Amino acid sequence: MDKFSTLVIFILCLSLKGCCRDDRKWGGVRRMESGGENGDLVTNLPGQPPVSFKHYAGYVTVNQTSGRALFYWFYQAITSHQDKPLVLWLNGGPGCSSVGYGATQEIGPFLVDLDGKGLKFNNFSWNREANMLFLESPVGVGFSYSNTTTEYAQLGDDFTAIDAYTFLHNWFLKFPSYRTRPFYIAGESYAGKYVPELAELIHDRNKDPSLHIDLKGILLGNPETSDAEDWSGMVDYAWSHAVISDETYKTIQASCDFNSSDTWNNKDCSHGVDEIINQYNKIDIYSLYTSVCFASTARSNDQSRQTVMNQSSKMMPRIMGGYDPCLDDYATVFYNRPDVQKALHASDGHNLRNWSICNDNIFNGWKQSKSSVIPIYRKLISAGLRIWVYSGDTDGRVPVLSTRYSLSLLGLPITKRWRPWYHEKEVSGWYQEYEGLTFATFRGAGHAVPCFKPSNSLAFFSSYLLGESPPSTK
Ligand SMILES: *[C@@H]1O[C@H](CO)[C@@H](O)[C@H](O)[C@H]1NC(C)=O
Ligand SMILES: *[C@@H]1O[C@H](CO)[C@@H](O)[C@H](O)[C@H]1NC(C)=O
Ligand SMILES: *[C@@H]1O[C@H](CO)[C@@H](O)[C@H](O)[C@H]1NC(C)=O
Ligand SMILES: *[C@@H]1O[C@H](CO)[C@@H](O)[C@H](O)[C@H]1NC(C)=O
Ligand SMILES: *[C@@H]1O[C@H](CO)[C@@H](O)[C@H](O)[C@H]1NC(C)=O
Ligand SMILES: *[C@@H]1O[C@H](CO)[C@@H](O)[C@H](O)[C@H]1NC(C)=O
Repeated sequence: MDKFSTLVIFILCLSLKGCCRDDRKWGGVRRMESGGENGDLVTNLPGQPPVSFKHYAGYVTVNQTSGRALFYWFYQAITSHQDKPLVLWLNGGPGCSSVGYGATQEIGPFLVDLDGKGLKFNNFSWNREANMLFLESPVGVGFSYSNTTTEYAQLGDDFTAIDAYTFLHNWFLKFPSYRTRPFYIAGESYAGKYVPELAELIHDRNKDPSLHIDLKGILLGNPETSDAEDWSGMVDYAWSHAVISDETYKTIQASCDFNSSDTWNNKDCSHGVDEIINQYNKIDIYSLYTSVCFASTARSNDQSRQTVMNQSSKMMPRIMGGYDPCLDDYATVFYNRPDVQKALHASDGHNLRNWSICNDNIFNGWKQSKSSVIPIYRKLISAGLRIWVYSGDTDGRVPVLSTRYSLSLLGLPITKRWRPWYHEKEVSGWYQEYEGLTFATFRGAGHAVPCFKPSNSLAFFSSYLLGESPPSTK
């Protein structure tokens, strides 16, 4: 695919108050990677609260020729880990770290402590319910790297899926007891593309019994799904939530064809969409009703609110999938500490790796993106996978409308009509079940749902793993 020459770099200053916020054929290989399971055991992570479960971190080589290695952090389930499934979690961007977001701001057991100098225990960590594997993907993200640095300019969806697939098989060589474990893939935002793409690859390769992975389902949060519907939903949401005027909305309605290959050549359309971005630049697009972080000392407001839109190209502009650069400074300090890198086996503690929460070069240089993963949904639904999609309903980036428009393309028969689901006696959101898919909302949650609703999210995750509807009575 051609270089993405049209680009919206849209980095906002956000605040989520009090939250985040080998190359070998696997079948025949029996050799353990150097280190093995125990070599990756994390024993002395600075600032770590005491816990009873084990966790492991380190590298898995995915391509020896190029020298590509992906970094992972794996937390055994808190109790009965032998009986619990394995869940892979992916964050998006593209270019953002699942360690910096998922593991240490959302659903992992150790959250970065915004006030202090260490980590605090997350009572709602998803490793209460499953063995949780966080992967920094693709190469160039977080600690993951390629020794052939020219590859950073070749990344795209397919590259990412193939390396993640190779990662899994090579990781199972380190952790053979998880090789046949029930397996799920979960993620949010741009991982709305990664997760179905990886699931499809696993499903296709499973035809070879020696490569079989017991993939049971996928779980997606505020996922980018189908570009035309995602744009259309973003526009309607901005208007219906009083972010833009009726006049701007009418202009966009009259001029934008989001299915077209030259949407942005229409000046009325691109100016209308510019106006949405311009208004969202003043608030937190990922969480409409919380404050932005004017207080951030690390960046001036100008730096943190870059908007670059190139209208001379036919490509769809892209917006960074869902992250908060303002609250990330602590994670950045933490993961660049020599003692932390050494404890996590990311470096020897002397030749440090330069860790950043999102790699803008990867985001800007992304070469290939599937415009829609709806065809993959159809395939995975016929394969009988458990597919649940949830949406925090105060997110303007991948709003609930985008997800509803995307899923409606599937035309699935309804099996359980729209109704509330409850958590701690309150309506946590609404849900509807279809043949092959469950859709649910989280009332009052922004883009990274578990940051806003940690207890509700854990309960929902538990329902998902059990394959039971979320509780529909108080
Ligand atoms: C390793 O990566 C290179 C460059 O992407 C690719 O050409 C080659 O096929 C890969 N090797 C394997 C075994 O996948
Ligand atoms: C990358 O290069 C370094 C230095 O030569 C080497 O130690 C490391 O093993 C290489 N990584 C991979 C994945 O081959
Ligand atoms: C921690 O979570 C468990 C299970 O969800 C709950 O029973 C317990 O009360 C929680 N503890 C605190 C201090 O919130
Ligand atoms: C894009 O095209 C498809 C197929 O014609 C149609 O179903 C869908 O509604 C269109 N989406 C938008 C946002 O126009
Ligand atoms: C905008 O796109 C055009 C055409 O693809 C390209 O030549 C130009 O370099 C791009 N400008 C920026 C600022 O990216
Ligand atoms: C580390 O990465 C950041 C962000 O990409 C960059 O600004 C900085 O210069 C890099 N530092 C080193 C020592 O390479």
